[in-house]
Amino acid sequence: MTRIPADFLLGAATAAYQIEGAAHEDGRGPSIWDTFSHTPGRTWNGDTGEVAADHYHRLESDLDLMATLGLEAYRFSISWPRVQPGGSGDLNDLGVGFYHRLVDGLLARGIRPIATLYHWDLPQELEDAGGWPHRDTAARFAEYAARIVEVLGDRVAMWTTLNEPWCSAFLGYGSGGHAPGRANGASALAAMHHLNLAHGWAVPEIRRAARNAPEVSATLNFHVARAFDENAEDAVRRIDALANRSFTGPILNGDYPDDLILDTAGVSDWQFVRAGDLDAISAPIDVLGVNYYSTATVSEWDGRSPRIGNDGHKAAGGSPWPGSEHVEFHPQPGPQTDMGWNIAPDALEELLRRLHREHPDQPLLITENGAAFRDEVVDGAVHDGARREYIEEHLAATLRAREAGVDVRGYLVWSLLDNFEWGYGYAKRFGIVHVDYESQVRTIKDSGARYAEWIRSREL
Ligand code: FCB
Repeated sequence: MTRIPADFLLGAATAAYQIEGAAHEDGRGPSIWDTFSHTPGRTWNGDTGEVAADHYHRLESDLDLMATLGLEAYRFSISWPRVQPGGSGDLNDLGVGFYHRLVDGLLARGIRPIATLYHWDLPQELEDAGGWPHRDTAARFAEYAARIVEVLGDRVAMWTTLNEPWCSAFLGYGSGGHAPGRANGASALAAMHHLNLAHGWAVPEIRRAARNAPEVSATLNFHVARAFDENAEDAVRRIDALANRSFTGPILNGDYPDDLILDTAGVSDWQFVRAGDLDAISAPIDVLGVNYYSTATVSEWDGRSPRIGNDGHKAAGGSPWPGSEHVEFHPQPGPQTDMGWNIAPDALEELLRRLHREHPDQPLLITENGAAFRDEVVDGAVHDGARREYIEEHLAATLRAREAGVDVRGYLVWSLLDNFEWGYGYAKRFGIVHVDYESQVRTIKDSGARYAEWIRSREL
């Protein structure tokens, strides 16, 4: 039995485009994910977020569901194209109204609101003007952040600027597996910098506009790279640079790693970094959000045999690893989830210890962790023992890290509800609550019931 400390926050996470639906209602404009998912061949089965889990229309009952589970915190994202349809100018009051109701509904139930400003749904107009490879997008983001915090900034407990900017940059503009589906290494690197800049410019805007002294954070997805053989040291270093240090470097240290700049010198001249940018990007944050799912095992490709590219991301035309395309990603041994991702809770503990070692004063929060499995509703129940076990093991790993002195403040499971899993559409279910997409009926899975029990008893 592990005791869960009283001040360790337990909650669940979602994202706007994955659950809300109501894609054309109340003045919402199109985002890059609308365009991408409506383009034939981009998502599994042609699935889109048009209806998703219909959360927009089921807000009150979903809030009640969160209360039934006893969630202490709920991490949601604000749909930029819903509240500022073209990505600039005045806010759309009808769209903002939804988030007023959401935040008020959370507070009324004693649940802490954690709002992410950007979980991948860039207004299409901004993509048409150049998207993230274009510097002005960062300025648009800071303006949007200021405006939305002006209206919700008396009640939101924690603001997160960006969710997983690595995916936005390197899957969106590098591999093309995510919206907007462009495949160009130089564009991906420019997007990476402008996302970092968007974060840095937004931080002071949030602090200025908020009236309740909220915590300010960014959420990164970490790739825990492991060596496939004794010659893989450089491959590990490269992937760590491109996947992790490309964001922790500027945000937490105020610098891009030298090796990252060297590794990508053949792809980009890095002229996108201008004087003053790194100072802005490294504005102190209160919490670093950590998303973790699995590990990656890498090696140097021999240049002859077919290159193995099992990096856990849906294959598309381009590469998410500009300048390091010769790194191979090997199939992962051992138990896996329905995503084909290996289950490695020890690597989460290792990651938390490393982050703490390298950034000892930086508080951490697990903002996403969870697993997809093929669930079935049988007699009104979902017996998802594998997901329960996954969550239990990762929560235990997080608590071990905390016990060892890592300042990790809580754990938010991905996800509250089954939802639109990006390129995989509705084929992958991550919820602790099952959603029947025909009827929109919600069924708390066994994992959800157990999660509620852990929250109630404070024992794992
Ligand atoms: C993360 C995303 C989240 C969800 C999970 C499974 O990369 O932030 O929206 O898709 O993966």
